[in-house]
Amino acid sequence: MCGIIGYIGTKLVKDILLDGLTRLEYRGYDSAGIAVLTPSGVEITRTVGKVSALKEAATQAADGHAGIGHTRWATHGGVTVPNAHPHRCGRVTLVHNGIIENFALLRERLARSGRFPLSETDTEIAAMLIDSLYDGDPAGAILGAARMIEGAFALVVLFEDRPERLYAIRRGSPLVALSNEDGAYVASDVTALLDHGRDYFVPPEDVLLVARREGIQLTDQAGNAVRPQMLRADWDYTAAQKAGYPHYMLKEIFEQPQALTRTILPRVREGIIQLEETAPVDDALKGARQLFIVACGTAMHAGLAAKTLMENMLRLPVEVDIASEFRYRDPIADAGTPVVLVSQSGETADTVAALRLARLKGAPVVAVVNVKGSTIARESDAVIYTHAGPEIAVASTKAFTVQLAALYMLTLHMARLRGALDQDRLREHAQALLTAPQLIQEALDRESQVREVADAVHRATDMFYIGRGLDVAMAQEGSLKLKEICYLHSEAYGAGELKHGTISLIEPGVPTFALATQREVYPKTLSNMREVRARGGTVIPIVTDGWEVEPGSYDYLLRVPGEGGVLAVFPLAAILQLLAYHCAVYRGLPVDQPRNLAKSVTVE
Ligand code: G6P
Repeated sequence: MCGIIGYIGTKLVKDILLDGLTRLEYRGYDSAGIAVLTPSGVEITRTVGKVSALKEAATQAADGHAGIGHTRWATHGGVTVPNAHPHRCGRVTLVHNGIIENFALLRERLARSGRFPLSETDTEIAAMLIDSLYDGDPAGAILGAARMIEGAFALVVLFEDRPERLYAIRRGSPLVALSNEDGAYVASDVTALLDHGRDYFVPPEDVLLVARREGIQLTDQAGNAVRPQMLRADWDYTAAQKAGYPHYMLKEIFEQPQALTRTILPRVREGIIQLEETAPVDDALKGARQLFIVACGTAMHAGLAAKTLMENMLRLPVEVDIASEFRYRDPIADAGTPVVLVSQSGETADTVAALRLARLKGAPVVAVVNVKGSTIARESDAVIYTHAGPEIAVASTKAFTVQLAALYMLTLHMARLRGALDQDRLREHAQALLTAPQLIQEALDRESQVREVADAVHRATDMFYIGRGLDVAMAQEGSLKLKEICYLHSEAYGAGELKHGTISLIEPGVPTFALATQREVYPKTLSNMREVRARGGTVIPIVTDGWEVEPGSYDYLLRVPGEGGVLAVFPLAAILQLLAYHCAVYRGLPVDQPRNLAKSVTVE
């Protein structure tokens, strides 16, 4: 979703902005722009489409030592140059990430004083508002505007008559900042800044950030200095590059064994899983009478898999909720119902809102998060960090499998706290989990078989995934991957449910993937698969190694390494990811940046 970059310092700004925007491309966007403060005023260049188009358009543009840049993912108003950021009004030029919810009201108010926007955006209203309050005091104008704005925003502002400063403020939307001997930088995420430093901070909400070439100052609404909490990016930009892979997605799929090892290994102590980070909520986890898992997209699918696992092992009811539903349905959450939030970015707007609601209701909150220092990590009572490293491709892959591992570890940790499993069983599970990286590696080694199947089915317009037990969650994730990057209609079902409607959609040539990695139910899934085949559908069982599949009952067969059960989620995830990836490549689609999607959905 929208990406922001800003710089002020001794270096020329144009390339810093354009390089920063290139690194933010992965967030998803449909137009881009920069504003450079030059001796003759602010010069703005904006284009629709990719940053490469902006680079071309900006070749003749003037350079300077202060500027702001933006990649826009359209919310208010279509994908047009006038709607692209930066927006200027009078002496104020700014970029914005977020949604100004009361923008219509503010627009009306501004119209009464004879001010009318040129674009359809809420952002231009922010620029107009700040300009209307500006009487030579930038801090007063920005803080005044922030008090009037409802919604989420990260704003970075240039004042034409204050060329030596860059201002920023945020509420709800992400922003990070750092300074070095060359100047001061702000960006939507640290990926854009890694060439300039590793030690960064997240400006607290509603605090004014003033950047000068000498450094950055933070002040609260009352004018008091605020000291930021410093964070360190423990990976460098090479970790966020393709390293010879044709796409980030493929690289990230292949990084899963290492990501899993990094996530699991430090948490195995004395042969069992021990999560020190949940100490603040351990009492609540021990006494919980119910658990909520709340997330969006792929992270929610990790939650669905965890529900099966947790209910099974802990005999504790677990409700999995889409964050956008949880936040508006007045959930029955309280001190006895811990809420587990799952998020790669830690910034998804609906998940953040769910977190705040859960806390308001007095529910203890545990977050499973990948991005250090993100909003969800900061505001939760306890954080279990996954160590996937930077995930750049929009379609989540390695973040998913480490979420599965983290939730498995949380389950084992709770089993220990609640006495649900004895020491021997806890040891067995820890040992089993340690084999997950190897299992996923074995699945990755089967890439060529998966590619052959992708080759055979990629022209289809509809695809179905079925499974039972843990395989239902995995079917949903496999289906989502396909929708995201192949632009294919796809649905996932509990295999037993297919007969209650969806089977009418099966026609000759429509592929159905039957996931069968759960021993107790696998024969049933395969018989549902045969029902599909009897109606002319193309069937592809994806079955654990060694388990019998009747010859002649399928069109193509894929095998999952291992012995099935809980651990099968890891190799199965890799196979489903590779399947979607190769279908997208065969279809000639932009795998890493699928249309209309954003990596981190920071608006409702
Ligand atoms: C977007 C991304 C998905 C992701 C979801 C939740 O839709 O495209 O890949 O699963 O947001 O994101 P989060 O960062 O909260 O895990």
